[in-house]
Amino acid sequence: MSTGTPTAEHPAADSILDISTLTPHIGAEIRGVDLSQPLGNDEFSAIYQAWLDWKVLVFRDQHLDREQHKAFGRRFGSLHVHPMQHSYGGDPEILSVKTTAKSAYTAGDGWHTDVTCDEIPPLGSMLYVTETPEVGGGDTLYADMYLAYDLLSDTLKEILQGLTAIHDGAKPYMGSYKVAPPEGDEYPRNEHPVIATHPETGRKLLYVNSGFTTRIKGLARWESDLLLDGLCNFIATTPKLTCRVRWEPNTLVFWDNRCTQHHAVWDYYPHSRYGERVSIVGTERPAA
Ligand code: SIN
Repeated sequence: MSTGTPTAEHPAADSILDISTLTPHIGAEIRGVDLSQPLGNDEFSAIYQAWLDWKVLVFRDQHLDREQHKAFGRRFGSLHVHPMQHSYGGDPEILSVKTTAKSAYTAGDGWHTDVTCDEIPPLGSMLYVTETPEVGGGDTLYADMYLAYDLLSDTLKEILQGLTAIHDGAKPYMGSYKVAPPEGDEYPRNEHPVIATHPETGRKLLYVNSGFTTRIKGLARWESDLLLDGLCNFIATTPKLTCRVRWEPNTLVFWDNRCTQHHAVWDYYPHSRYGERVSIVGTERPAA
């Protein structure tokens, strides 16, 4: 098991990969790896360790077709099918992230962790962006939920420990995106601990997000709103939790969805941006 401690304690990842960090705690660019080719075991283990350590890995200048993108994803597990896939069509294991002047929304334009409405949310996502707005912009912000937890007071940590929250797919998919579920079906709705423990690093993290979390159980509505609004505002207004990825065409970013949130910034209307995302099915329910 990793300690989640940055690379000084993991010389193996450092000695195999060219790693350049974006901030002291979240985000790293990995150079010199060609993701279109099968990875050797040492290279794969080093990437895996760097991903646990840095949570968000940025690979520039990658030239991938869909099968190569999916093959890289499959090194980490089986591929996830998004609950809104029926509205996108195409390959069920590829989520298109396409924004043009005609888009009513851009996917992920608000702080969230991917698909926490699932009983077992994806353990990670890999977004491969091939078209960026010619005027610049379209960056993605990522926030470190280990650090969010660490920054809470001991009093608040005690209050939150042991609480459970509801994560409801209808909130973003119907509320924000206005897409009905497949006929005769409903979007997933599940409960997860407010403070979770990462299954591999063993570190505690804050596990609520404004995208999906609707209610903390066992509290009056106003008490739940008070805590959720406060926690989500804290995430949205604390820049030191974050790193910012500036996309270039042919950049792939791979994030650990178990300990991060992200926010795609839609500041480039009416220009376009295009990418495709592969997510990896999680292995276990988030646990306290
Ligand atoms: C998402 O996966 O939420 C979209 C992120 C992005 O477009 O940068």
